[in-house]
Amino acid sequence: MEKIRVMSVFGTRPEAIKMAPLVKELAVREGIESLCCVTAQHRQMLDSVLEVFDLKPDWDLDIMTPRQTLSTITSKCLLGMDEAIDKLKPDMILVHGDTSTTFAGALSAFYHQVKVGHVEAGLRTYDKYSPFPEEMNRVLVSRLADLNFCPTVNNRDNLAKEGIRDNLFITGNTVIDALKTTIRQDYQFATDELNHLPYEEKKVILVTCHRRENYGDPMRQIMLALRQIAEENEDVELVYPVHLSPVVREAVDKYLRGAPRVHLIDPLPADEMHNLMARCYLVLTDSGGLQEEAPALGKPVLVMRRETERPEAVAAGTVKLAGVVQDDIVTMAARLIQDKTAYDQMAHAVNPYGDGRACARIADAIEWHFGLRSNPPEDYTGA
Ligand code: UD1
Ligand code: UDP
Repeated sequence: MEKIRVMSVFGTRPEAIKMAPLVKELAVREGIESLCCVTAQHRQMLDSVLEVFDLKPDWDLDIMTPRQTLSTITSKCLLGMDEAIDKLKPDMILVHGDTSTTFAGALSAFYHQVKVGHVEAGLRTYDKYSPFPEEMNRVLVSRLADLNFCPTVNNRDNLAKEGIRDNLFITGNTVIDALKTTIRQDYQFATDELNHLPYEEKKVILVTCHRRENYGDPMRQIMLALRQIAEENEDVELVYPVHLSPVVREAVDKYLRGAPRVHLIDPLPADEMHNLMARCYLVLTDSGGLQEEAPALGKPVLVMRRETERPEAVAAGTVKLAGVVQDDIVTMAARLIQDKTAYDQMAHAVNPYGDGRACARIADAIEWHFGLRSNPPEDYTGA
């Protein structure tokens, strides 16, 4: 019997981290041929993930250019995908989340009348410009998708409210599957700098920041807040693996570089990042993925954005929205640094985003869709 050809398409670091365990899970299913096409919307940051998870793409569009625009990414992906689909002839294309690669991958699949499966479906802020352009990307992909893999009940309900009611599966988030493969109690970092940070003696704060809607004044305020936090709290060390975007790097250089107790380092491989998160005291970020990983590791998170499409950990009390105003971020961080009770209230491990079996459920759902199994997977009920 011919195998079902399932092609996972991704291009950025977070998509790769969250799709890697799924590509592998599909590869061990007898009735499925698991194919992998990368757009390389990110280059170095993507290659790092491919190396950590030992993935070899079947197709590489290699589209990244410095300071790329949204139109360039989308158009290059669309043109490149034509050839990838013609050559690899997938029966289904899987896209992940809400990047430009996600949108272009789903649109291209539709143009070729190939079925679309959307992993991490149903996240919403209901503000089309925030996060920008991700909110609109995921709304559009929901219209294009044939199968929707929702991490949580809340995500499924969001789609149901929009009239999308068929082929919805609640799976948990594949990021928890990835995290289970990277975290090690006895993990040794690749650099002395990370091995010798004062994890016990001081408060190590892990920082990331990259979102497009934070470009400009919000990013300036975030950087100034980080500087002030480091200057005013002698018992902290800030570790900030800086995203390779030149816009982010300029803001870091202008407002943060040179501050005391701030370690500005290059982006970390995913296993290094996950283990650093497991050892840190607190996370300050505008990242989506970190909002899911840190709660699973029992680390409080202050989100440096105006809203979040991930309300589950906010409800569980481990994530708080700090906004993008310097004073607000400084005040909220100071409380968690100085007030042990406030810190303890947030520092407990919760897992609203998954149990590490999301990829198995997604693979089961695909097999069921193509008639390779008689029942769909049971929904993930942890959220
Ligand atoms: C993209 C996604 C965003 C996601 C983020 C994850 C879109 C529109 N945005 O944003 O949703 O949260 O990835 O990190 O899809 N660069 C490099 N090397 C790399 C990666 C990036 O040099 O490995 C530089 C390039 O100059 C590139 C720039 O960063 O042009 C921006 O990359 P891009 O993918 O356009 O946007 P991100 O901000 O990374
Ligand atoms: N990450 C990483 N190295 C870093 C910073 C982040 O491996 O230096 C991981 C992080 O643990 C998470 C993912 O990258 O799994 C999040 O990516 P990012 O913040 O770039 O994008 P977002 O999740 O906001 O779309």
